[in-house]
Amino acid sequence: MNYSKKTVKDVDVKGKKVLLRCDFNVPMAKDGSGVITDDKRIRAALPTIQYLLDQGAAVIACSHMGKPVATFESYKKKQLEKGKDETSITEEKWKKSLAELRMEPVAARLSELLGKPVILADDVVGPDAQAKAAALKPGEILLLQNTRFEKGETKNDPALAKAMAGMAEVYVSDAFGAVHRAHASTAGVAAHLPAVSGFLIQKELDFIGGALANPKRPLVAILGGSKVSSKIGVINNLLEIADTIIIGGGMAYTFSAAQGGKVGNSLLEEDWKDYSLEMIQKAKDKGVKLLLPVDTVIADAFAPDANSQVVKAGEIPDGWEGLDIGPETVKLYCDAVADAGTVIWNGPMGVFEFEKFAAGTKAVAEALSKTSAITIIGGGDSAAAVQQLGYADKMTHISTGGGASLEFMEGKELPGVACLLDK
Ligand code: 3PG
Repeated sequence: MNYSKKTVKDVDVKGKKVLLRCDFNVPMAKDGSGVITDDKRIRAALPTIQYLLDQGAAVIACSHMGKPVATFESYKKKQLEKGKDETSITEEKWKKSLAELRMEPVAARLSELLGKPVILADDVVGPDAQAKAAALKPGEILLLQNTRFEKGETKNDPALAKAMAGMAEVYVSDAFGAVHRAHASTAGVAAHLPAVSGFLIQKELDFIGGALANPKRPLVAILGGSKVSSKIGVINNLLEIADTIIIGGGMAYTFSAAQGGKVGNSLLEEDWKDYSLEMIQKAKDKGVKLLLPVDTVIADAFAPDANSQVVKAGEIPDGWEGLDIGPETVKLYCDAVADAGTVIWNGPMGVFEFEKFAAGTKAVAEALSKTSAITIIGGGDSAAAVQQLGYADKMTHISTGGGASLEFMEGKELPGVACLLDK
């Protein structure tokens, strides 16, 4: 994939209507109060928005929020699948679930951060959006309703893409978190307008793309998280690129079991044991150093206050489960990143949400904060871990994309990037 894309600086936006796709899919308080619990993604879009406004563009911003369910019938089906009692599933609850995914809280927060009014449309391409977009003046910003309120959005419906594009003269994408989706607002619109990236996408392409295409070596990849199955693509791709791959988190137990280790009650994906052995062999064939835990912190329950002890990897007694890497493994992994040129980290080393089992993840974060290497943190859990443990400002780059950064590291083509104009 070509990562060298035209940016907002390569097009003339003065006096033009610019359709700006952002990823404002922010976490909201569970009580339905409309309180945004983390506005990082809104803040991350500010440089592009401010630049466009300063250049005299009229900005028509849009984003998805959550996964709204279009009809009551499909809402009911999903709730039944989740095991909900049929009598508790009402049309009122479905409507409430939609109301909670409206863009009002985002518009309010964006307005606070920009220090200027944000006009909010009641629909995406309906009469209200069309009228407000037509009346929008240079230096003003309009936010459309949740793009996923339109059924055609996730189907990349050409008619919806055309209608969205019809409101503007230039398309700017800054929604890195959604570039792995080929949706009408992330990819379809680019067929109708000059399409360029905003500063956030440019930054993500520079850092993650740069580390994958032309890393400062040695390149060390730290892969954690619970499941081997969700990291197959990344392990496979990084085995082609990295000098060292470090495995931690729950998925290490599948590797251990595949090699004949005893893993007790630890997370185990039986179906992925053969694959784990293949990866160990592939690493040998390619001369990639593959580091696996040598010891592990085990617990007698999956609980913050469970009893714990340290045992050798592959020697976990029945009734116990591994929840973190052990101290010898910590040393081994920290030594491996100390002289790295580039470190890519995706997935925590243990259950860092429980203080007692956060030591491995914390030690790795601390080692990264001390190395002179370029440190790139994949979005999702690893970004949350680095933030929660207080090391965020010590990293070179923390991705704003969860699924998007994972697919990027898998070497997949990202539809929301591929659709932008090449430099
Ligand atoms: C994310 O939260 O990773 C992005 O906003 C994409 O959301 P999605 O998984 O609902 O497409």
